Amino acid sequence: MSTTPVTVTVTGAAGQIGYALLFRIASGQLLGPDTPVRLRLLEIPQAVKAAEGTAMELDDCAFPLLSGIDITDDANAAFDGANVALLVGARPRTKGMERGDLLEANGGIFAPQGRAINAGAADDIRVLVVGNPANTNALIAQAAAPDVPAERFTAMTRLDHNRALAQLSKKLSVPLTEIKKMTIWGNHSATQYPDLFHAEVNGKSAAEQVEESWLRDEFIPTVAKRGAAIIEARGASSAASAANAAIDHVYDWVNGTAEGDWTSAAIPSDGSYGVPEGIISSFPVTSRNGRWEIVQGLDIDAFSREKIDASVAELVEEREAVKALGLL
Ligand code: NAD
Ligand code: LMR
Repeated sequence: MSTTPVTVTVTGAAGQIGYALLFRIASGQLLGPDTPVRLRLLEIPQAVKAAEGTAMELDDCAFPLLSGIDITDDANAAFDGANVALLVGARPRTKGMERGDLLEANGGIFAPQGRAINAGAADDIRVLVVGNPANTNALIAQAAAPDVPAERFTAMTRLDHNRALAQLSKKLSVPLTEIKKMTIWGNHSATQYPDLFHAEVNGKSAAEQVEESWLRDEFIPTVAKRGAAIIEARGASSAASAANAAIDHVYDWVNGTAEGDWTSAAIPSDGSYGVPEGIISSFPVTSRNGRWEIVQGLDIDAFSREKIDASVAELVEEREAVKALGLL
C-alpha cells in the first residue's frame, strides 16, 4: 500500500452529489484499494456546518484509507496541494435566469477556483468539473489556470455514457459487459450525441441490431434528456448516479481504460473530428499512463456529423458568451 495520501478536493461537498460521493472516495473506490486519501471539502460559508456534519459521518465510518478531512470556505486553502479536484458546487439555474446570467454566476465560482488551482495545486492535479454547465465551467476554470496543462481540465459526460449503456442493454436484453465502444459526443446538455454507430454488442455493430426509428426517436432523446426526466421524477437532479459517474471518470483517468474498449469524457479538443481546438467537448477516449487520448480514425457518417456539429455549435456559442463576459 502507498503511504502518502492523495489529496482529493471536493467542492459543493454539502450538496446531494457531495453526500453520494464522499463516502465512496473515502472507501477507496475513486483511486483504488491501495491509495489512502485526504479529503478537502470546499463549501460556501452557509453550508460549512452541513459539511462538518458529513465529515462527522465520514469519521464514524472508520474508513482505513481516509487519512484526514479538512473543511473550508476558502478556495486557496481547499486546492493547496490538491492532486484531484472534483468541482461539483455550481450555481443552479433559477426561474427567470437567462443563460448569460447563469454563465456569469458560474464564472464567479469557476474563475476563482481555477486561479486557486493555478496557485497551489500539486503538479499532477487532475480536475473533473461536474457542476453545470459542466463543459463551459471547465473552460472557465482552465482559462484561469494558465500554468496548469490544459489537458488536466475535464468535464463529466460519463453519466450520459452510462445512461446510454443502460438503455442499450435493456433494449437488447444483453449484459452491460457485452457492450463496448459507446460514445457520447459534444456537450453535457440535451444536444449531446450518444453514438451507436461505433458501439458494439458482442463484437457487432450496435446500430445494426436496433431499429433505426428506435435509435433516432427513442434512444438518443432518452439519453440526452435523462437528466431532465430524473429531475421531473425525483424533484431533484441525479445525485448517486452522478457521483458514480465521477468515480468512474477519475478511476479510469488514473488507472487506465480496458484494452479493446473506450469511454466518454469531455476533454480539450485538439481539433479531432472537426471540433474546434480548445473546446471542452465529449469524445471517445482511452486512458493510458494517466492521460486521456481521443480515439482516432472513426468514420463519421452524415447523420452523426450533423448531430456532433449541432452539439459542438452549442459549445462554441457558450465559449463566445463567456468570452463576451471577459471570463476567457
Ligand atoms: P446541490 O445544490 O445539492 O449542491 C451544490 C452544493 O454546492 C451546495 O451545497 C452549495 O452550497 C455548494 N456551492 C455552491 N457554490 C459553491 C462554491 N462557490 N464553492 C463551493 N461550494 C459551492 O447540487 P447537486 O445536486 O449536488 O449538483 C451539483 C451540480 O452538479 C449542479 O450544477 C448539477 O446541475 C450538476 N450535475 C451535473 C451532472 C453531470 O453529469 N455533469 C449530473 C448531475 C448534476
Ligand atoms: C443530469 O444530467 O442529471 C444533470 O446534469 C441535470 C441537471 O440539470 O442538473
